[in-house]
Amino acid sequence: MPPPVAFGPRKDDEEVARGRAVFEARKCAECHAPPTFTANGRYDVGLDDAVGNRRFNPPSLRGVEYREPYFHDGRAATLEDVFLEHRHPRDAEWTAQDVSDLAAYLRTL
Ligand code: HEC
Repeated sequence: MPPPVAFGPRKDDEEVARGRAVFEARKCAECHAPPTFTANGRYDVGLDDAVGNRRFNPPSLRGVEYREPYFHDGRAATLEDVFLEHRHPRDAEWTAQDVSDLAAYLRTL
């Protein structure tokens, strides 16, 4: 066990706090609203399925770290891929830093 850090928040806590700020700034809660981190209704986030459906109910993000792969057909292997590769929620521009912070936050849900 490393000794407790004497001053200031731990690095992990800072990452999670930054990730929460990204979640708020990007308005993720419009479709993944706390406390359940989902919403009623179905939304087009630019993905389709084998029979052409484009609108899906947002999955709850509670415990999301244990449910990879992601999206209805598992096309995103990791949480990071949801954003970096598939540009969720829709054609989003992401920096690696924001995605890494956001993923740290999502892993606490
Ligand atoms: C317009 C509504 C909408 C917004 C805004 C939105 N999402 Fe989603 N999200 C969805 C839908 C719908 C899906 C499911 C898509 C699918 O499975 O094809 C999804 C899927 C996900 C998944 C995959 C979950 C799983 O179990 O497969 C994650 C993670 C996620 N969203 C996180 C976020 C984050 C973080 C944000 C903010 C940056 C965000 N979403 C913004 C609607 C939205």
